[in-house]
Amino acid sequence: MTLSTTLIAVLILAALGVLGWRLASRRQRLPCPVWLRWLVEFDNPFTRMNRAAEIVATLDLTPGMTVLDAGCGPGRLTVPLARGVGSTGRVLALDLQPGMLARARAKTEAAGLSNVDFLEAALGDGRLPTHGFDRAVLVTVLGEIPNREAALAELYRALKPGGLLAVVEVIFDPHFQPRGTVTRLATAAGFSERACFGHRLAYILQFVKAGSGNAA
Ligand SMILES: C[S@@+](CC[C@H](N)C(=O)[O-])C[C@H]1O[C@@H](n2cnc3c(N)ncnc32)[C@H](O)[C@@H]1O
Repeated sequence: MTLSTTLIAVLILAALGVLGWRLASRRQRLPCPVWLRWLVEFDNPFTRMNRAAEIVATLDLTPGMTVLDAGCGPGRLTVPLARGVGSTGRVLALDLQPGMLARARAKTEAAGLSNVDFLEAALGDGRLPTHGFDRAVLVTVLGEIPNREAALAELYRALKPGGLLAVVEVIFDPHFQPRGTVTRLATAAGFSERACFGHRLAYILQFVKAGSGNAA
């Protein structure tokens, strides 16, 4: 076997693995493993819309706000979100994997932040408070959730009236969700689309919950 055939075989196997993971995630929980967290934490220069600073800048955060980091992973966004709402605001970092939460907690402690709470839970299982948040972010998480409808319904309930949800998707993620799918699911949950940044392969899609509030 030549080097190029070996390389092609490896690429095909990797592509099949990614496809299998994506399809299996439709039926059961197969989240991004904790050992791959370094990949999640990497602010890839080719996916500007997935950079933590870029996402946080679109949220119009003000001091005192409450923010949900849904599927926080290793806390890539948790720290800038907590800084954005200041000492009078709070961030809830939620993830179903204790290893991810431990990494997020270590990061917030290293940053000297005390306005972050952590919750080990699966989005969609109904553990979030009603009308608890001004903002929610769901960054490269939606495709990992088998019941995406339940997850979006819970986000809708958890936001305050007028609250804002930002969904981020990038094509490099094995669980990438096309914009049309995200809009369809979010609209069915009751959200209205507010804005879109980026393009169809890497985007930040913002939705608002009906009612008066500080989203617009
Ligand atoms: C690709 S990582 C993204 C992490 C983070 N949002 C970021 O962009 O840096 C996806 C994360 O979502 C979490 N996750 C997947 N399904 C979830 C669910 N139903 N509820 C909460 N977290 C979930 C995984 O454990 C993983 O940490």
